[in-house]
Amino acid sequence: MSEVLALKYRPQSFEEVVGQNQTVESLRAALDNGTLGHALLLCGTRGTGKTTTARIIAKELNQSFPEIYENWEKRHHLVLTEIDAASNTGVDNVRELIESIRYATQGHRVVVLDEAHMLSKNAFNALLKTLEEPPPRVTFILLTTEPHKLLDTVKSRCQIYEFHEVEQQTLEAYYEHIMELEGVKADVKAAALKANGSVRDGLSILQKVLSGEQEADNSKQYFELVGAIYSQDVATALQLTSELRKAEEARVIIQTLEKWFYWASVENFGQKTPIREFFDGDNRLEFDLAHLQRLFDRCLDIERNFTATPNAKIVLEMGILKLSL
Ligand SMILES: Nc1ncnc2c1ncn2[C@@H]1O[C@H](COP(=O)(O)OP(=O)(O)OP(=O)(O)O)[C@@H](O)[C@H]1O
Ligand SMILES: [Mg+2]
Repeated sequence: MSEVLALKYRPQSFEEVVGQNQTVESLRAALDNGTLGHALLLCGTRGTGKTTTARIIAKELNQSFPEIYENWEKRHHLVLTEIDAASNTGVDNVRELIESIRYATQGHRVVVLDEAHMLSKNAFNALLKTLEEPPPRVTFILLTTEPHKLLDTVKSRCQIYEFHEVEQQTLEAYYEHIMELEGVKADVKAAALKANGSVRDGLSILQKVLSGEQEADNSKQYFELVGAIYSQDVATALQLTSELRKAEEARVIIQTLEKWFYWASVENFGQKTPIREFFDGDNRLEFDLAHLQRLFDRCLDIERNFTATPNAKIVLEMGILKLSL
């Protein structure tokens, strides 16, 4: 498999986008009713389909331009401009952009501003008027994982579409489907768990598994480790840690524990997390929230120590001791 899974399986139409039903439905409806705004903001978790969807919208907007639409692969560059705001943050970049879209082209022009929150305040101010009233047949699509960093004046000019973390079950089913198409077998459950809601992250994990970099499902080991730490069974905790160490970096182990403590906390409130399976049935651990909170805080402390000394093994083991006391 030479091609990277995430690129090979990038959805080409709304129907192929998984786990964003409501968002995709409202986009579909807005396109059909002609109520799609001239400025859109697609925001939410990384690797959940923002860039992908922006491209699909661009294609849809060009449906009435058969020359472009029917030869999309070849001709999309005529109407689709993608700008990485992270590296084009300034006023001059924006002025250039505004200048470049003043003249009509064949088709419907779509300007995608990726990492939109990175634009400088001045750059945004230069863009405001154009966002409010772009030239005919021009649509702006702003993408960001951090919408709270955008100015309200910008947000208020955009139709907002949210992209959510994709549920573990949905990911599992999707990865299963892809593995079938590839004609290979892989532990999709582990990938879906580790993906943490990001379709792309899970695909990268599968990619590694398929290229022989074994990424075993160690969630059971983590569950046991969390249990050992929680019940202050130091010997077992250290033993499990050294097992995990064979497959994972010291720092990753602490970061993963941190996530587990977080998940265990919110599971108490009935929130669904990637570790739900460990909370169903008989092996359910009853956790005390204050204790989980302390463990979580300690993990944050331990994580800082990794930058203080190059000896990660010591930091990890002392950290596990600290957690288990
Ligand atoms: N909702 C989805 N349905 C199907 N595949 C998806 C979805 N989201 C992401 N992917 C897969 O992940 C890849 C990357 O997705 P995309 O670039 O759209 O994510 P993004 O939300 O823009 O992420 P980032 O915030 O990191 O830019 C796609 O090529 C596709 O393979
Ligand atoms: Mg993106």
